[in-house]
Amino acid sequence: MEYMKRAIELAKMGEGKVNPNPLVGAVIVKNGKIIGEGFHRYFGGPHAEIDAINNATESVEGADIYVTLEPCSHYGKTPPCALALVKHKFNSVFIGTKDPNPLVAGKGIKILEDAGIHVFCGICEQECIKLNEVFLKYIETKLPFVVMKTGVTLDGKIATVTGESQWITNEKSREYVHKLRNSLSGIMVGVNTVIADNPKLTSRIEGGRNPIRIITDSTLRTPENSNVLDISTGRCIIAVSEKADSEKCRRFEEKGIEIIKVGKNQVDLKELMKILGNMGIDSILIEGGGELNFSALKEGIVDKVITVIAPKILGGKEAKTSVMGKGIEHISDAVELSDITVKNIFNDTVITGYVKKKQ
Ligand SMILES: NC(=O)c1ccc[n+]([C@@H]2O[C@H](COP(=O)([O-])OP(=O)(O)OC[C@H]3O[C@@H](n4cnc5c(N)ncnc54)[C@H](OP(=O)(O)O)[C@@H]3O)[C@@H](O)[C@H]2O)c1
Ligand SMILES: [Zn+2]
Repeated sequence: MEYMKRAIELAKMGEGKVNPNPLVGAVIVKNGKIIGEGFHRYFGGPHAEIDAINNATESVEGADIYVTLEPCSHYGKTPPCALALVKHKFNSVFIGTKDPNPLVAGKGIKILEDAGIHVFCGICEQECIKLNEVFLKYIETKLPFVVMKTGVTLDGKIATVTGESQWITNEKSREYVHKLRNSLSGIMVGVNTVIADNPKLTSRIEGGRNPIRIITDSTLRTPENSNVLDISTGRCIIAVSEKADSEKCRRFEEKGIEIIKVGKNQVDLKELMKILGNMGIDSILIEGGGELNFSALKEGIVDKVITVIAPKILGGKEAKTSVMGKGIEHISDAVELSDITVKNIFNDTVITGYVKKKQ
């Protein structure tokens, strides 16, 4: 258990650097002590098992290895790890979770067992599944894993009656959000948020990388001097509908902005997810505002909801709430969350849950 927990810790060090590959960590143990540690450090780089073998301080022959994901069995960017474990004569392999990738699924385990290596699967399985919730959804559906994050007051407001929204949550909570931005591939906001706040949508983590910015803007109202259009800090995609002016689209494209036309009158979010998935974008953080949040929930594209609640009250009938749109008529139709966790960041409370899919 403790070795797998260490492997999970190591895997997390690859956050934001391996997408759309999985986060994987590995720990090699011999005679009751750790002799090698490794993780998948960057996209296309050596796999965790190989990294751990390379870092081993003594011969790995006869050692055990703990790895968060089933060792691979196919030739991708690197040769199969299962074969490497056989070659290095490991005694036992402890696996967190099986790889759902059809190219691997069970085949890695079979290679090991056929070679007479003891294999134990499902060690800290739930934690290993959570570790790779993005990868596991993306590999099976080719759709991005979508996280909806909002920062609200106790009365559910995301801005004051005059539209001020900076800052509702505390500084430490905002650091946490920047870490989230760094770990997911894309960040999506509605055009009203671009107009109201002129955000940069970058990640201010040292050594981090910026997410790809995605704006839903049916008629291309995004002002031409918006901060998000500065592609020197990262890619910017604007999803528009057929109603968008072709000439303005062309002008934006000339500046390097990527335009995706999807939907007749308004951006079709479900179709947009398919397109973004096909572009290799495995995960998206939706950061509002209320109109986009409602559509995203209604269209069923959201997997996980993170709400940061600040102990402040703003009131105001006209002040925006975190989810607006037409709303839902019956409690029985409410969007429900499961698998809830609650934590505090100083005086703010962060509630995280997963959207229960309606049958
Ligand atoms: N505290 C926070 O966490 C937070 C986060 C973000 C924003 N905010 C605040 O939220 C406010 C803006 O929120 P908002 O609700 O007015 O707007 P929004 O969600 O930012 O933008 C909504 C707009 O997006 C466009 N859109 C395109 N496709 C859409 C689709 N399928 N579904 C929904 N919208 C789509 C629509 O305009 P078209 O029809 O023209 O395309 C729509 O009016 C600002 O005051 C901002 O400061 C707060
Ligand atoms: Zn591998």
